Amino acid sequence: MKLYVARSAEEWNRLTAQIVREVIEAKPDAVLGLATGNTPIGMYKELVRMYKAGEIDFSRVRTFNLDEYLGIDPGHPASFISFMKQHLFDHVNIDPDRMHIPKANPDDPEAEAAAYRELLRTYGPCDLQVLGIGTNGHIGFNEPGTSFDSVTSVVELHESTRKANAPAFGGDPANVPARAITVGISEIMTAKKILLLATGAGKADIMKAALEGEVTEQVPASVLQRHDDVVVVCDEAAASRLELPRSER
Ligand code: F6R
Repeated sequence: MKLYVARSAEEWNRLTAQIVREVIEAKPDAVLGLATGNTPIGMYKELVRMYKAGEIDFSRVRTFNLDEYLGIDPGHPASFISFMKQHLFDHVNIDPDRMHIPKANPDDPEAEAAAYRELLRTYGPCDLQVLGIGTNGHIGFNEPGTSFDSVTSVVELHESTRKANAPAFGGDPANVPARAITVGISEIMTAKKILLLATGAGKADIMKAALEGEVTEQVPASVLQRHDDVVVVCDEAAASRLELPRSER
């Protein structure tokens, strides 16, 4: 596991986007697993800048988003497809036929999860999986207690997750969908490389538990200790409790 600690938001954005870019440069038809949330916004902004500057080409890239809420209109501003359009898809040359994200309002959520699982099997594994981390240790929407063997499925969100995500739904956790489709932990672990992102003091304790604590299903992100190519990019606040040696680049 490699840990980089950025000294500024600009450096964090550059470093994270550069890691994505290197994967695409090495393999122009790379399969990328993507995350939403507050953490990766600056990375996407820098990727859009790189694209506009002619420094990166997404035309052959395939993307799989990690998760999507269930039971909201895909056009809802807080849906993950809306997020991806706003922060990346509408601004770069990714082929719409190669962007994959579970449907937010399928007639049959279980069938949608099964179809997404098959799609991942067909085109995966991801060359790079980008991950954020929940303050409860979730990756994707794999909440504490999820089996490390889990595959893409319909899941219930924990109250703490609905509370954390409430700002995008007018501040009321009750407005946050109760269910989602998420890629499973076993599928996340098949990615060739994993880029784990964390910023802010609110992530310091969970980063310590996930990266340096016991590997346990109670802390889903702790499974990453078993992967042999994880790159972690934090700011000082999120890294403040970590004792792992820091890398420079
Ligand atoms: C989002 C996702 C979640 C987030 C996590 C952290 O696609 O899968 O696991 O990465 O909830 O969210 P932020 O970055 O908003 O703190």
